[in-house]
Amino acid sequence: MTAEDKTRLALLLDTAGAFLRDCHWRERKAPPVFEDDVPAEPGGDSLETIAVEIHECRACGLCGLRILPVPGEGVPQPRVLVIGEAPGSEEDERGKPFVGVAGHLLDRMLASVNLSRTTNCFITNTVKCRPPGNRDPSPEETASCAPFLARQIRVLRPAYILCMGRIAAQTMLRTGEGIGRLRGKFFDYTPEYPPDNNAAIAPVIPLIATYHPSALLRDAELKRPAWEDLKKLLARIQT
Ligand code: URA
Repeated sequence: MTAEDKTRLALLLDTAGAFLRDCHWRERKAPPVFEDDVPAEPGGDSLETIAVEIHECRACGLCGLRILPVPGEGVPQPRVLVIGEAPGSEEDERGKPFVGVAGHLLDRMLASVNLSRTTNCFITNTVKCRPPGNRDPSPEETASCAPFLARQIRVLRPAYILCMGRIAAQTMLRTGEGIGRLRGKFFDYTPEYPPDNNAAIAPVIPLIATYHPSALLRDAELKRPAWEDLKKLLARIQT
C-alpha cells in the first residue's frame, strides 16, 4: 500500500468513525430533559435549548471524536454551580458529568458540605466534549464552548460557583495563575450575559476554586486543603 493509499484509508476511516458516532447518540440518547426548566421570560433561553444546541454543535474538532457531548446535570437555580474541566471516557459514554472515579469522589466531597447534584447543585464543565486521551482542552476548544457555559450561567442563576481544578478556575477567572494560588478564596464572577430576568439578581456571583478530584486521587496530601476550601464555601452559604 502506498503512502497515498494509507492517507486515503485513514481519511475514510475517520469519516466513517464520525458518522457512526453521530448515529450512536442519535439512536441511543436524545439530549437530556431538565425538570422545572422554565425560561425566565417567555421565549427565553433554557437548559434544554442549550443542551440540544450542544448535541448539534460542530464548532470544534472534538465533535468528531466524541460519543456523547456532556451538557451537565443538576437542579435549575442551584445553590452551587460546580464547574469541572471536560468529560472523561465514562462521561463521554454516558453523556453525564463526573460519573467516573473522580465523579464519585466529587459526589462525596459535595455531600460532606450538604451539596448534591440531585438537590442543590448543577454540575457542568468548561468544555462539553471529551478531549482525546484526556488531554487539556485547547484554548480554541475552550473559547468555542464558552458561550454555552455563559448561557447556562444566565439560565441557572446559581448563588455560588465552585471551580474544580486549574482549567475551570483559569477559564472562569481569565488568568494563567496556578490553582495553588487561585484556590480557597472568593472572587466576584461577573456573568457574561445579563440575566433574562433582572429581578433580584446579584450583579456578581461569588466564585471559589479548589483542587480537582482527580488531583486528590493522585495526591492524597491535597485532600486537607480541598476540605478547607469546601468548608469556606459552606460557611459562606450559611451566613
Ligand atoms: N473530569 C472533569 O473535569 N469533568 C468530568 O465531567 C469528568 C471528569
